[in-house]
Amino acid sequence: MAKLTIKDIELKGQRVLVRVDYNVPMEEKDGGMVINDDTRIRATLPTLDYLVEKGAKILLAAHLGRPRGQREASLSLRPVAQQLSDLLGRPVAFVDDCVGDKVDQTAAALKPGDILLLENVRFYAEEEANDPAFAARLAANADVYVNDAFGAAHRAHASTAGVAKVISERGGACAAGLLMERELQFLGDELEAPQRPFVVILGGAKVSDKIAVIDRLLDKADSLLIGGAMAYTFKLAKGLKVGKSLVEPDKVDVAREAMEKAARLGVELLLPSDNTVVTPVVTDKLNKKGKPILAFENPRHNTEPDIPDNEEGVDIGEHTASAYGEKIAQAKTILWNGPMGIFEDPRFAHGTFAVAKAVAHATSQGGAKSIIGGGDSVKALNQSGLGDQVTFMSTGGGASLEFLEGKELPGVAALGDR
Ligand code: 3PG
Repeated sequence: MAKLTIKDIELKGQRVLVRVDYNVPMEEKDGGMVINDDTRIRATLPTLDYLVEKGAKILLAAHLGRPRGQREASLSLRPVAQQLSDLLGRPVAFVDDCVGDKVDQTAAALKPGDILLLENVRFYAEEEANDPAFAARLAANADVYVNDAFGAAHRAHASTAGVAKVISERGGACAAGLLMERELQFLGDELEAPQRPFVVILGGAKVSDKIAVIDRLLDKADSLLIGGAMAYTFKLAKGLKVGKSLVEPDKVDVAREAMEKAARLGVELLLPSDNTVVTPVVTDKLNKKGKPILAFENPRHNTEPDIPDNEEGVDIGEHTASAYGEKIAQAKTILWNGPMGIFEDPRFAHGTFAVAKAVAHATSQGGAKSIIGGGDSVKALNQSGLGDQVTFMSTGGGASLEFLEGKELPGVAALGDR
């Protein structure tokens, strides 16, 4: 059922608590935290501009990182307030708490069009526990609840679910923001009855992350193009050798079942016919988990179906990239989720960037609707400078995947129906 949006409700003079997803990448520089990528902040501007124009008094609630109920200076949202203010061209007040007297006093002084960003809600353990008393405190200064945090909508937390319950029980409206509305439209409605051919490109490391998505999309797609390390689990299921490539041997059955389902439904399921392979060599450096970091040596183009025992596949090859490009060029609807290889290393970025180019071209030249399911594919498109040439890029990571699986997200379920 369609959800209520901010266009459906009375906003003038109302105190509106807006949940946004400002979980943005930051790094320490000169003793302070700086924002590396403000995409998620920019994505909320249409909603905020609309609320300002309608004369709402705006309180923003958000999380940053996973402080697990502890105050962590490096996870303060203060730098976001500054960035948001620069982007909006208007002041954004900030309080170093999300509940309590200081918040109540500042909220009480808000005038129509004013914006107040609250401190990281995850500084309280009650947030993730969806504690009803905490949700009531968060709701204390609001008449209306708006959720524009699609990226956090798969969490049943106080600021995404509990607070909506409190406000709706009081008779207040709970509505989707404009970003949330677009996410639900593109990842939901547009893929429900896609224009054909509908081409789905799935990549990333693990089949296990995408089992439910693959299963659901096989019911809708005309072609499913597989890349990334998950392709090696599919190759294993076909009895091919994958050398030292990343695989999930316990998911071979899942891959086999997906191929059988595709054949049964007449869905074309394509696997890479060639790859870039490397020789992985153990170095004496350790990663964050204390495991040795591998160096990838002797990259070469492998056109054989099998990958030799001492080598690892790290990208799709050029024949695969052009075969996938041809399929993408014919598409009228495209969904892309997950890179084709280890694109963070420029030596293995060719396949992912070739797909990015093909998707952008099919959109601008072929009139296809292209929907990018968040996470690394969005990063790859932005890195290749093509982010503005696709129809829609989701701001969700885990949330997009769960939504594509067909799950109802708690943050969406909590909103009122139209
Ligand atoms: C994300 O970055 O995917 C969202 O902000 C959710 O963050 P979380 O996985 O820490 O809940």
